[in-house]
Amino acid sequence: MIEPKKKKIIVFSGAGMSAESGIGTFRDSGGLWEQYRIEEVATPDAWGADPEKVQQFYNMRRRQIIDAQPNRAHQMIVQLEKNYEVTVVTQNIDDLHERAGSEHVIHLHGNIRYSKSSGPNAEKAYYPIDGWELKLTDKCPDGYTLRPHVVWFGESVPVYEHAAAIMEEADILIVVGTSLNVYPAAGLIHFASHAKKKYLIDPNADELNIPKEFSVIAKGAEEGMTELLTALESL
Ligand code: OAD
Repeated sequence: MIEPKKKKIIVFSGAGMSAESGIGTFRDSGGLWEQYRIEEVATPDAWGADPEKVQQFYNMRRRQIIDAQPNRAHQMIVQLEKNYEVTVVTQNIDDLHERAGSEHVIHLHGNIRYSKSSGPNAEKAYYPIDGWELKLTDKCPDGYTLRPHVVWFGESVPVYEHAAAIMEEADILIVVGTSLNVYPAAGLIHFASHAKKKYLIDPNADELNIPKEFSVIAKGAEEGMTELLTALESL
């Protein structure tokens, strides 16, 4: 017997997805961008001016991410794979979706557990980092210093077209824990034009600019995903 084709769910996640794993968001009160200046740690100019400071910032973040665990919301996204074809398109540089067991994860802004060349061929190869520390003395085969595999402000998003094509295939779109402030990433939700159902989970949803076709669940990721799984059962 031929199995019916599974419907496609795309999960588009942001920092709020990992908040209940203890990883702070960027723009909530007390968020990372209140504690650090973007232009000192997350731009190509910052790296040019003070690579040690940038490296230390990402070493600190990597250490925190290694110590964190996937939360129930990450796990519920894995559960969806039983009945759906699921791809996660994440803005997060943590690897909690993968560690929860998600099979298909696209990192728009890179993956902090990897490094890449600071030279011209940065997107040709990514190198796994053993442990939390990347040093300025660590070099890649082309001789350039290794930098974190993260997209900085002012840099392009190399996987954008690929992610947009995946979005176009969505039957169901689930947006979790993003302020939809950072472009081009936030623009991706508009590619999911065929999706029959679109959900957005965010405890501060009333502060966001959300297209009207979305069903909004104004809760944290774990509670919101629990409610969403119930909603999907009755589709
Ligand atoms: P933001 O910090 O901008 O937004 C986080 C969102 O998560 C907000 O809308 C919060 O209301 C929501 N949130 C807070 N707690 C939550 C919880 N427990 N469950 C669910 N949602 C919760 O983070 P992003 O939108 O991911 O880019 O930021 C996008 C990009 O900006 C990041 O990828 C990063 C950052 O600068 C780069 O570094 C390139």
